[in-house]
This record gives sequence, C-alpha cells and structure tokens, in this order.
Amino acid sequence: LGRGVREPDLVGRHVVVSAGGTREPLDPVRFLGNRSSGKQGYALARAAAARGARVTLVAANTGLPAPAGVDVVQVGTAVQMREAVLKAAADADAVVMAAAVADFRPAAYATGKIKKKDGQDPEPVTLIRNPDILAEIAADRARPGQVIVGFAAETDDVLANGRSKLERKGCDLLVVNEVGERKTFGSEENEAVVLGTDGSETPVPHGPKEALAETVWDLVADRLT
Ligand code: CTP
Ligand code: CA
Repeated sequence: LGRGVREPDLVGRHVVVSAGGTREPLDPVRFLGNRSSGKQGYALARAAAARGARVTLVAANTGLPAPAGVDVVQVGTAVQMREAVLKAAADADAVVMAAAVADFRPAAYATGKIKKKDGQDPEPVTLIRNPDILAEIAADRARPGQVIVGFAAETDDVLANGRSKLERKGCDLLVVNEVGERKTFGSEENEAVVLGTDGSETPVPHGPKEALAETVWDLVADRLT
C-alpha cells in the first residue's frame, strides 16, 4: 500500500456519520441555523468507505453531493437527525457525530409566515432544548462494544473543556477543534486533538479534513472488538 492509502480495516463494519448543521424552523420561511459546512463529516464518510466500511451518512443541510458508495439520509432538524441516527446506529459498529446539532429550537412553529405589526415590537422567540443525540446513544449503546465519537469546537481552555465534555457526553473519543475567526467553519483544513476515555490525547496537526478523518478511523479501528 502506498503512502496515504490505508488497509481496508473496516471491511464488514457498518459505521454511521452525521454531518452538517441542523436548522430549526420558526415558520415556513425562517429557521435558526449554524455555519457548519458538513465537509468534515463528508471526509469521514469517504474515508470510511475507502477503508471498506458500509457507511450511513446522516446529512443536515449540507448541499454537498452524496459520496460514492455511501448511503445518505437527508434530515433537516435535530429531532429528525436523532431519529435517523438512532435507526442507523441499531446495527452499527461505530457512530461519529460530526454534525453541529442545534442545542435549542423555537418552542412554537408558526404554520403561516410571521408578519410585522404596525408600530409593535416583535414577539420574543422562546426556545426549548433539543435532544442530546450523542449523550443518548452513548448512554444506551445499541450493541456492546459500539465505538462512539463526538466532535467539539471550543474557544478557550480547549483541552480542559474537551475533557469535561468527553466525560459529560459518555462517548469514547472526542475530537476537539479550536475555533476562531478564520478557523474551521467552511474551511478545507482543520487542526484538532482527539481525546480518549483511556486518557489518550492524539494531536492532529493543521491539515486537510481528510487527514483528521483518517486519524479518527485509526483510533476507532483500534477500539473495535
Ligand atoms: N450533539 C448532539 N446533540 C445535541 C448537541 C450536540 O448529538 N443536541 C453532539 C455534536 O454532534 C457533537 C457533540 O455533541 O458531536 C458536542 O457538541 P457540542 O455542541 O460541543 O456540545 P454541547 O453539549 O452542546 O455543549 P455546548 O454547550 O458547549 O454547545
Ligand atoms: Ca452545542
């Protein structure tokens, strides 16, 4: 095998990857969303397929073309993503939550477009919590030995925040990105540290999202039984 070409070490495995960012509708024309491009999740899906896995990619609002040989399930909201991820995870060997899931959604959905009223201030938007998909699948594993990976974008105290998030979520690995003005969102490159519940800390130098994807699958493959 040449440089950068991995062993087909995921043959016979089913892996689930979530990608993109959920959109939480306010009315038929408006939503609360985020800037996730979905590129990291797509790179993970492509890399897993190249290593021989059957891949289910749960994609939220990415607008990206389906990678060859990958089953794509399109979703819009966090609630829809939860349903699709739980379903696909039922027989999965590993689940990687690369999606940016909205923490909150509007408490009410207006079935008609919200209109301005003359001389009146707008109604405040009340938000409610969305389900935490990662914490749920980690707490209630669909099969023993299933490897679960989360992603976190942090601004300050990146490692300390990452460690406590890893513990809070109950997953096996957490990929921690440092975000800033020009970092990560929509970019082709990434820099991260992958934290493991075994105390491991794997730095991934600044580079293409494909390289981070390969490191994630290396760490997952090490943990598969
Ligand atoms: N995640 C999830 N469901 C949610 C929110 C987040 O599955 N409702 C997953 C993301 O896909 C990611 C991981 O949890 O893999 C961490 O997301 P992050 O937003 O960093 O974590 P939160 O617990 O929401 O913490 P914060 O308050 O810092 O946003
Ligand atoms: Ca969050």
